[in-house]
Amino acid sequence: MQYQISTNSAADVQASCIVVTLDQSGKLSDAAAAINNASNGFIQARIDDKDISGKLAQTLLLPAVAGVKASRVLLVGTGKDALTRSSAVKVLNAIASASSGFSGSIALALNELANDNLSEEWLAEQSAMAFGNALYRFTETKSKQDDDVRQPDSIIWLGSDVSAALNKGEAVAQGVAYAKTLGNMPPNICTPSYLAEQAQELAAIGALEVTILDEDQLEEMGAGAFVSVAKGSSEPGKMIIMKYNGAADKNAAAHMILGKGITFDTGGISLKPGLGMDEMKYDMCGAASVLGTMQALLALKPAINVIGMITSAENMPAGHASKPGDVVASLSGKTIEILNTDAEGRLVLCDALTYGIDNFKPASIVDIATLTGACMAALGRVNSGLFTTDEALAGELQNAASHSGDKVWRLPLEDDYQELLDSNFADIANIGGPLAGATTAACFLSRFTEGTPWAHLDIAGTAWNTGGKTKGATGRPVPLLVNYLLAK
Ligand code: BES
Ligand code: MN
Ligand code: ZN
Repeated sequence: MQYQISTNSAADVQASCIVVTLDQSGKLSDAAAAINNASNGFIQARIDDKDISGKLAQTLLLPAVAGVKASRVLLVGTGKDALTRSSAVKVLNAIASASSGFSGSIALALNELANDNLSEEWLAEQSAMAFGNALYRFTETKSKQDDDVRQPDSIIWLGSDVSAALNKGEAVAQGVAYAKTLGNMPPNICTPSYLAEQAQELAAIGALEVTILDEDQLEEMGAGAFVSVAKGSSEPGKMIIMKYNGAADKNAAAHMILGKGITFDTGGISLKPGLGMDEMKYDMCGAASVLGTMQALLALKPAINVIGMITSAENMPAGHASKPGDVVASLSGKTIEILNTDAEGRLVLCDALTYGIDNFKPASIVDIATLTGACMAALGRVNSGLFTTDEALAGELQNAASHSGDKVWRLPLEDDYQELLDSNFADIANIGGPLAGATTAACFLSRFTEGTPWAHLDIAGTAWNTGGKTKGATGRPVPLLVNYLLAK
């Protein structure tokens, strides 16, 4: 998508569609009033006929309005109250979906929606993200490409020079689209090796140093928890390390993001039920969000050092798979009793945490994982679960969530829960029983992060949508991660 800034009047801007607003009392924005005047009251006549009332996110498309240079006018309702971040996003999504089928340029006269809580920059950034979401299509594995796609190729922002905000929104939108495509990719294509190739392709487009550790190297170094998962599959497991060094001091401690990359989770010998099992291709969405975020950083080039790490394997039942009751030694030296092979995410993550901390001494770590059904049951598809005992990190992630709209909800991570992981046969068990499942998973990870500021994001409910036409990856939490890192 291309972006332009214009100070033209709404009636004079050349575009395939000009978007203007009215509120629920029927009051036109100045831009809508300019179009109404230029067209001898055409807009007001439509309102008088009750074609549109101005309800939040209501839209009315008017093709060919006389006196107006744009080919179409899209009227959008902004409701009765001053816009909040979440109501503004509804308006922007409605605009993007109503105008996503026109080729050429879409002009947005939305600067008047800015208020004390919503800056024009924020509106511009979110507009770019909304168009990115509305225009996304997954076509990678369809045999016929639709050769009649009409989509806008540029956005004209009427108002102040908000180019930086539009660029940021575009970088986030592209990171989201990339993460969606990786998530949606079928698991016979999107394997740990495929994710490693993706990291190498990112390194080809920007300043990224990529290292891939293969399963043999990991076994040799003693990453027994990781290997206990990877060894059940004939697809070799990989750990992927991407270093982005944007800070003036290239040796300054990096901020690390670490994604769970289980490219298919059958549950292993603790096999999952068959219904809906295809969705376990999405068990690599944490890894996808790391790749999407690194891609956005390469576009925005912030002056920070970031390490993106992915721990990737396929969780399969096999003759050489782990069994319930197996005890393995993790890279940290702690032994783990595998009571359920379906709690595999924490096993691949714990060795990655140890490796990352020992080798890179990061200033902070945020891990991102489709870790527990329990988190999805608690928070649904609205909030990702946030677990940390570090108040500063919690605040930074909550700010990034509220700015981006990519929401998080803090859940408990207290020592009182740790005893649920006691094992008679190892230092720690990999499951904590039926209660507080999202918290006991976070408690497990916390045992491998001592001394490093660390937060865990459980995205089991937010990484993809199920069912019907909406089924597909969401690209979350790329917006959250990019905003969190840019504020460092
Ligand atoms: N990948 C799943 C978690 C998951 C399940 C995410 C459904 C989204 C939807 C994870 O590996 C898993 O299987 N977790 C188990 C843990 C349990 C065995 C302690 C779960 O949540 O049931
Ligand atoms: Mn599992
Ligand atoms: Zn899993």
